[in-house]
Amino acid sequence: MIERIEAMLFSVYMTAQKKYGPGPSGFFLPSKYSQYFKKDPMELFMRINNDYGPVASFSFFGIRITSITNPADIKYVLQENSSNYTKSITYNELKHILGQGLLTSEGSFWKRQRRISQPAFKKSMIEGFSTIVLEEVDKVLKSYQNKSITDISEDMMKITFIVVGKALFQKDLGERAELISKALDTSLELVLSRMQTIFKFPLSFPTPTNSKLNHAIQVMKSMVDELILERRKSGGGQGDLMDFLMFTKDEETGETMTDSQIRDEVLTFLLAGHETTSNALAWTFYLLSLHPDIRTKVREEVYPVMRTGLNYSSLENLPYTKNVIQEAMRLYPPIWIIERTPIKDDEVGGFTVPAKSIVSVCINSIHKNKDYWINPEGFDPERFNPENSSGRHGFSYLPFGGGPRICIGNHFAMMEATLILASIVHNYDLNLTSLANVAKNPLVTLRPKNGIEMSLHKI
Ligand code: HEM
Repeated sequence: MIERIEAMLFSVYMTAQKKYGPGPSGFFLPSKYSQYFKKDPMELFMRINNDYGPVASFSFFGIRITSITNPADIKYVLQENSSNYTKSITYNELKHILGQGLLTSEGSFWKRQRRISQPAFKKSMIEGFSTIVLEEVDKVLKSYQNKSITDISEDMMKITFIVVGKALFQKDLGERAELISKALDTSLELVLSRMQTIFKFPLSFPTPTNSKLNHAIQVMKSMVDELILERRKSGGGQGDLMDFLMFTKDEETGETMTDSQIRDEVLTFLLAGHETTSNALAWTFYLLSLHPDIRTKVREEVYPVMRTGLNYSSLENLPYTKNVIQEAMRLYPPIWIIERTPIKDDEVGGFTVPAKSIVSVCINSIHKNKDYWINPEGFDPERFNPENSSGRHGFSYLPFGGGPRICIGNHFAMMEATLILASIVHNYDLNLTSLANVAKNPLVTLRPKNGIEMSLHKI
């Protein structure tokens, strides 16, 4: 009996010892902050850290959230002590679409999947994918010949989906591309809205929205299953991502992926590989239309490269074009927040982050932090040239995340975005139309809310 009382007292003592980061008190967020939860969650995080410092903490319906903005603390969570962290519950909704794919899986299963998938993103593969990008951007340029106005956000969504679709399936996708893309859009939209809803019915409960989501997921999965079956029958040899996923043996266990693992990875690559790159490009064109002087500099860099023809090796001659994309992703990070859950209590920046809580790394706040960036709201690609980048903390710029879970497609994305930007800027000036109503829509990715309508002027 005495032992039990002692244990209880010890537990109460330990709880009292937990020193969470400073922040608003109470079970719910005060309205000063909660008003931003749906309207502009990026602003919510920005304000909390501005008001309470780099390790700010609050309770959200009883869940403790700690928002960290110090690069050293972020490095600790994402890299140095990453084995004590899983992805947070926020990612659970994505599992409805992506199952146990790379983005959503954990532990030794994730490690194995990453080991098998990594060689598919090596330099020689990316070089091969660059020809797909160039073919597809040519089609976009041809389509512009008969247009004076376009929604660049829609154009980029389409091209990035086709590029990753072809990188995965070479020629097999055909007419299925549009059906999969539509189903993916619908399911992502519904899943993202579930992420922002606190009380929701489980997916098995037949509400009209759930039925719509289940149907979209079903369509996608059955089409991808069909593609997997076809590839099993044909036996591979296409040299695309699908061949890698199907036939690469894990170097440690000698195992290959099962069909359902392949399906989860295919859906993960289709989703993670187009939405983000598309947003990065759409915001880049938007920023260039506001800064024609910078667009002219890009064009001046691209011009001599075009004389010999744009290809993968041109990339090394396009450093400024790349810096423009990097700077656009600083101001408009395509994924603006990543979150983790500690497995065991941990200490970050001198404060306790309890097990099962959420640690939020708000990429947007870090990218705009005046302690790490001069004139953080300004659009200045030069800050990414080698001279200005030297000495910058690696975890103060995180468009692709950091640590072992860093984006597997980062080099793919930079190759694709740079070639698309160079091709279009060389041929067209894109300017915002007077009717364009540009606004941010920060769900998990940072989309433009109403698209970005632009006029096209042939150079
Ligand atoms: C500009 C484009 C892109 C951006 C900004 C971006 C951003 C990110 C970020 C921030 C993460 C880390 C998420 C976390 O730690 O919770 C991530 C992970 C991931 N990304 Fe990307 N991404 C881009 C393009 C791509 C492309 C082109 C692909 C594939 C073709 C891809 C596939 C993935 C995958 C599979 C993961 C999970 C990796 C893992 O956990 O092992 N991404 N991405």
